[in-house]
Amino acid sequence: MIKLPGLIDPHVHLREPGQTHKEDWDTGTSAALAGGVTMLLTMPNTKPPIFDAATLDLALDAAHPKAHCDYAQFLGAGPDNTDWDEHSGLPQRAAGLKMYLDSTFGQLRLDDMTLWQEHFKTWPGELPIVAHSESRSMAAIILMAAIYNRPVHIAHISLKEEVLLIKAARERGIKVTCEVCPHHLFLSKEDIPAISHGHPGRGEVRPRLATKEDVEALWANLDSIDCFATDHAPHTLAEKDGENPPPGFPGLETMLPLLLTAVDAGRLTLDDLILRMVTNPRRIFNLPEQPETWVEVDENTTYELHAADMHSRCGWTPFEGWKVKGQVTRVVLRGSESFKDGKILVEPGYGKNVRE
Ligand code: DOR
Ligand code: ZN
Repeated sequence: MIKLPGLIDPHVHLREPGQTHKEDWDTGTSAALAGGVTMLLTMPNTKPPIFDAATLDLALDAAHPKAHCDYAQFLGAGPDNTDWDEHSGLPQRAAGLKMYLDSTFGQLRLDDMTLWQEHFKTWPGELPIVAHSESRSMAAIILMAAIYNRPVHIAHISLKEEVLLIKAARERGIKVTCEVCPHHLFLSKEDIPAISHGHPGRGEVRPRLATKEDVEALWANLDSIDCFATDHAPHTLAEKDGENPPPGFPGLETMLPLLLTAVDAGRLTLDDLILRMVTNPRRIFNLPEQPETWVEVDENTTYELHAADMHSRCGWTPFEGWKVKGQVTRVVLRGSESFKDGKILVEPGYGKNVRE
């Protein structure tokens, strides 16, 4: 048996408010515990999006009675909320500020770089900023971090050019950190046919699955990658297989077994894993310690990943049928046995908002 600290996932979409047929605070935080994640940070692209005091309350009021694990909620940067006031107390109640810089994400889209600058100027300096920015927009946001001399965290990097640029920026003292998702480490675009089973929507995710060369560059430059994050983005199979399939993969229940399998194969060490799933996210996002919290793993159990055994409401996984080695057997969160042998043992509402 291996005992790990409770894992922190800094990038999760739980769909509540607004799209609870995909996931809600109950099913999403259950999936987290089953995957060894005891604290998660949730993204603001819900319906409605979370971008001011009223919508933040909407998300937190939904979370409070339902969450099984600890959490904090991001605020989204939009075109109309660039005037953050640190004395209002609002930024401090959030996990951080999330900026969507190139893809279309409804009301949270920031087309114009003057809007990026406004957010950089008014969001309090000691609080985290996370950017969804790919390729050249990532280069642009790193320039802004340099100009304003403040840290920025790049979400889900997937390309060789991204990891190499981040490495070069850090060597010059720019305060940029980043995360990578398991699906960008274990899948390339060549795997799309196998994931799809004839339904191309199942291979859709943003950032897209990349080339084998990109995947190899991420592994080769793990030293420049601070965190592992799931980007857990649940959509139902009916949606993935229908017209206009939404991009996104679930990930909370597959991240740890996939990474433990890579540890078993000698691709990284347990220390590498703990650094990227506990120590670094806690530092980057200024998160509290969770006392009396740990994850027990049977490192010798080999089993297959099946969506039917999972807690997420979305009902599928791109890793269906994968053989993995290393199973979460028990999770203790703040002194309470929270998960054991496939069952969630803490009541909804046990989870705490770590920004309160
Ligand atoms: O694939 C994705 N799905 N990428 C994103 O950035 C958003 C996410 C979602 O919310 O479904
Ligand atoms: Zn995301």
